[in-house]
Amino acid sequence: MTLEGRPTSAAQTSLSRIMTALDTNLLGTVHGGVIMKLIDDVAGAVAQRHSGGPAVTATMDEMTFLEPVHVGDLVHASGRVNWTGRTSMEVGVRVVAEPWNEVRPAAAVATAYLVFVALDEDGAPRLVPPVLPETEEDRRRFAEAKIRRTHRLARREAILASRRQDSAAAGGES
Ligand SMILES: CC(C)(COP(=O)(O)OP(=O)(O)OC[C@H]1O[C@@H](n2cnc3c(N)ncnc32)[C@H](O)[C@@H]1OP(=O)(O)O)[C@@H](O)C(=O)NCCC(=O)NCCS
Repeated sequence: MTLEGRPTSAAQTSLSRIMTALDTNLLGTVHGGVIMKLIDDVAGAVAQRHSGGPAVTATMDEMTFLEPVHVGDLVHASGRVNWTGRTSMEVGVRVVAEPWNEVRPAAAVATAYLVFVALDEDGAPRLVPPVLPETEEDRRRFAEAKIRRTHRLARREAILASRRQDSAAAGGES
């Protein structure tokens, strides 16, 4: 069974927050975990909107901090579905910050990719609607997300194979 596709733009979502003194690390800039929480929040909203129900974070990678974020900055995180599989989807998030004390355009401060898995009422993975890329950019993101997916699964499989080999060798020693 396949579900009807949904265009990329249907689930695009943005969240904004002003950074406060409670968000800082020991250096006085914003703690990376605060930005990661915002990223996970917006990506979760995208995944739920796209899949039409609950979805959980399975993995987050290529979390890149480009610039420090400061107290008072107005931070915007925007997310979109890059790629969909059977029950999983990759969400890409871009974070920009506007300084409160200067007139200059918002600057990119972080990016990340997250894989969400849609769940049914029993907590089992459920089918997601295929994403329908609409623009050249969407098609580029879809193709690049497929490459990341291949690498994620290959890395996971290689590590599991290595563990199996290690435990077989340890079993052979005893
Ligand atoms: C995410 C979770 C539901 C996946 O369960 P699972 O038993 O591995 O499910 P499956 O093997 O059926 O995989 C489901 C899909 O997720 C993908 N997937 C699972 N783990 C993945 C990973 N680490 N990286 C990339 N994709 C992954 C699979 O490839 C599959 O995709 P597809 O259906 O599009 O082909 C399960 O690991 C879980 O509940 N994790 C906790 C999630 C959570 O609570 N997150 C909040 C943070 S506390």
